[in-house]
Amino acid sequence: MVTLTVNGTTQNIDADADTPLLWVLRDHLSLTGTKYGCGMALCGACTVHVDGVAVRSCVLPLKAVEGKRVTTIEGLSKDRSHPAQRAWIESDVPQCGYCQSGQIMSAAALLGTNPSPTDADIDAALSGNICRCGTYVRIRKAVHRAAELLRGEKSS
Ligand code: FES
Ligand code: FES
Repeated sequence: MVTLTVNGTTQNIDADADTPLLWVLRDHLSLTGTKYGCGMALCGACTVHVDGVAVRSCVLPLKAVEGKRVTTIEGLSKDRSHPAQRAWIESDVPQCGYCQSGQIMSAAALLGTNPSPTDADIDAALSGNICRCGTYVRIRKAVHRAAELLRGEKSS
């Protein structure tokens, strides 16, 4: 049994301690917003936050998150009000959508440490998130917009 917090709720997971976090989220907790792409930490589709840091859940064993705080796309906000979610909707970023929860989670982690990212900061932080539909230009625009919204929230 491994205990962790997922989206603010304590969960006791009865699974092999080596099970990748991705499958715990999807199969044990039905949090299917986090996607499986490559299973090898190469595409970013499975990105979630562990204690606020963006990680690839497909290669992170359950035992590595014992006692930690995991946030998935479902827990980023209650009502899609996180600045990244608002900016993504406003900029109409997704095409097929498959990569987008991972993109948003990487963007949100970046904005957590850098409220005014440059293009280079965005490219560096999201370089591990692959989009087969090529929405990179809209993603970058949305991250800038999310940063603007975030700064507005902080100053109000
Ligand atoms: S599924 Fe985890 S990085 Fe691709
Ligand atoms: S929107 Fe289709 S893979 Fe990114």
